[in-house]
Amino acid sequence: MALGRLDITAVRNLQQVSLRDLGMINVFYGANGGGKTSLLESIYLLGMARSFRSAQINSVIQHEARSCTVYGELRRPEGGYSIVGVTRERTGGVQIKINGSSVTSVSVLAEYLPLQVINARSFDLLTGSPVDRRRFLDWGVFHVEHHYHGVWQRFQKCIKQRNSLLRHGKISAGELRPWSQEFSEAGEQVDLQRQAYFGVLQPALSGLLERLSPSLPALELRYRRGWDKQSSLLQALQSTEKTDREQGYTHVGPQRADLKLLCDGRDAGAILSRGQQKLVVCALKLAQGQLLAQQRGRTCIYLVDDLPSELDAEHCRRVCDVLGELNTQVFISCIEKEDIGSSWSDPGLLESGAVFHVERGVVRRD
Ligand SMILES: Nc1ncnc2c1ncn2[C@@H]1O[C@H](COP(=O)(O)OP(=O)(O)OP(=O)(O)O)[C@@H](O)[C@H]1O
Ligand SMILES: [Mg+2]
Repeated sequence: MALGRLDITAVRNLQQVSLRDLGMINVFYGANGGGKTSLLESIYLLGMARSFRSAQINSVIQHEARSCTVYGELRRPEGGYSIVGVTRERTGGVQIKINGSSVTSVSVLAEYLPLQVINARSFDLLTGSPVDRRRFLDWGVFHVEHHYHGVWQRFQKCIKQRNSLLRHGKISAGELRPWSQEFSEAGEQVDLQRQAYFGVLQPALSGLLERLSPSLPALELRYRRGWDKQSSLLQALQSTEKTDREQGYTHVGPQRADLKLLCDGRDAGAILSRGQQKLVVCALKLAQGQLLAQQRGRTCIYLVDDLPSELDAEHCRRVCDVLGELNTQVFISCIEKEDIGSSWSDPGLLESGAVFHVERGVVRRD
């Protein structure tokens, strides 16, 4: 999938944007505050119906406007176009349309238009909370493993129900048991699918790290499933039942899973330099795109905000080369176009792409 056309109405400072003939590599450059991140944010809105930098849609909708809309034409790999449109209203309304039909589930949209974002927030993969790493892992499982969404939804229902019972205090063992049973069955399924994905993620990551930064000390990625390795989830639930009852929530299960990145046995987030962290983050995100292509024969769209920041010219070129090889559509922002212009071993890639200048909300093709 690749966006051929993009129309943006009332997103942040962007004046009516209408881009045609987008390339596989698209670069947006310009001074601070021009609207580059807002442009990438608009594409994210098209694929996820929300922003990647604000939980409040009101801050995304242009001051004075009542709603914002992003509309895109997607070139299908088999030929032809799909049309996707997303509108978010200040009053909370969300309208998603795919080929003229309304869609109510964001997961249908996300499945349709897989997106990967690399921005300042991506460092949370190394230094943030396990929630960020679980979200990362689940993106991969969702797009690669069939039926994961259903399994995950079933698990969410179980944990909500079990925690709600625990919060209410005096419940009998008999009342809790069926939910513990259901929780452990659904939780084991979530874990199995995550493990399967992790099994392919690890080698993909190693290969990419070798390409992006051969001098980086060996990195090891570990998966922690959220309960003791030796026990089944049901056994683990039994052993924490007393604490669960006292504290009113479930202490073990996939909701506690995490990914650990170790560098020479130490927490990578604590010891790597900022540039090294960025390379690891890029490798993680690029590994997901690579796996999507290998396992499902699909591509995702990469939104890379301020790619050159933190990277020296050599490492920036390495990232660009891998992005080019993935044969996937890429939207990159940067301040100076020269920072990206010289970053491709194959300059033809950028020549066949599109470069735009973004200034005070106006986007112009170079
Ligand atoms: N809801 C809004 N309505 C109108 N303008 C907004 C809104 N929210 C933010 N802005 C403005 O939009 C502008 C564009 O911000 P954006 O983050 O896209 O710039 P940028 O080109 O990525 O800059 P930088 O190089 O600093 O990252 C900013 O000047 C900001 O003040
Ligand atoms: Mg920006």
